[in-house]
Amino acid sequence: MTQNATTLPFAPDAPWLAPLAGYSDLPFRTLCRAYGAACSETEMVSAKGLVFGGFGTERLLATTGADAPLVVQLFGAEPEIYERAMPILLERGFTHFDLNAGCSVRKVNKSGSGSALMSRPDLLKRIVEVMVRAAGPGKVGVKMRLGFTPGEENFLDLGRGLEDLGAGWLTLHPRTAKQLFTGKARWAAIGELARTVTVPVLASGDLFTAEDAAQCLRETGCAGVMFARGALTDPMIFQRLRDIWAGREPAPRTAATLAEAALTHIRFCRELDRTPRAFRALRSFLPRYAKGFTGIRALRNALLQCRDWDELAATAASIAHLEAEDAPLDHSDLAQL
Ligand SMILES: Cc1cc2nc3c(=O)[nH]c(=O)nc-3n(C[C@H](O)[C@H](O)[C@H](O)COP(=O)(O)O)c2cc1C
Repeated sequence: MTQNATTLPFAPDAPWLAPLAGYSDLPFRTLCRAYGAACSETEMVSAKGLVFGGFGTERLLATTGADAPLVVQLFGAEPEIYERAMPILLERGFTHFDLNAGCSVRKVNKSGSGSALMSRPDLLKRIVEVMVRAAGPGKVGVKMRLGFTPGEENFLDLGRGLEDLGAGWLTLHPRTAKQLFTGKARWAAIGELARTVTVPVLASGDLFTAEDAAQCLRETGCAGVMFARGALTDPMIFQRLRDIWAGREPAPRTAATLAEAALTHIRFCRELDRTPRAFRALRSFLPRYAKGFTGIRALRNALLQCRDWDELAATAASIAHLEAEDAPLDHSDLAQL
């Protein structure tokens, strides 16, 4: 595998696919790129798993030449493990890395990783130092929250410190770790960070539609956005933002375009990961494309009955005939890992 060592795109009309554990695998990244994602992150990869050959690490790092530019996201809380993990990744041709200091899942936080790092800024900085020393300045980003606990928000101080250490960009999901996904993302904090540091700042948080992203970009002046839950129900969200930013009318999210996205996802999965695990995962993923349409329960049941790829494709094609509901899309149930 050779990754293209190009610089990463930071621009309002160059949306990224966010790291999404359980979802941003090679087939989904390939799908999102086909629909206009300018850059993608892997699912979070355990630095320890990488060093000790953990189960599943190989699948998480699967990529192709076309899957570029790609950022490998790492989690873990031990600088000495990163000392060993980074050379392994560089040797394999990966060029850009992101440190996960934003994930608030209990299992991840319990080991001191993810957003728990926000409560130990010196440790977080030591890890970034190790990563930058290995990969070079500008090649490492950090995905942060506002802080660990409400009232003890340290993202601005941390941002300044990380920029001084050679971090190339910062992503902010403007909630505290304790908040998980509750309340509203505080986009104003993204603007504060963008005005405080000179490196590009990417926005993440409650960007459920391309219109949300355009509004966040305009309100905050940040360099670019990452789509997460919004991409899970609508992979065409990337092209839509590009259209809005160029002053074009974006194509609507219709049953026909969603059926096409589902079929393309199946095709990429068949090409890139034909394992039974991937088949089962995709079967439960596909109903997300029908979110906001009537008949989603029947569709889910029909998909679960599918035993092979052709059946799956035939069933997914039926999304084209579903009727849109009136209610706006609710993404709150997509925050469960
Ligand atoms: C299912 C799921 C998996 C996620 N996995 C990761 C991850 O591996 N690494 C990470 O930094 N953030 C992860 N996140 C957080 C997202 O990247 C993003 O920051 C967050 O969902 C806020 O954006 P949104 O409100 O637009 O979805 C995950 C979120 C969800 C919902």
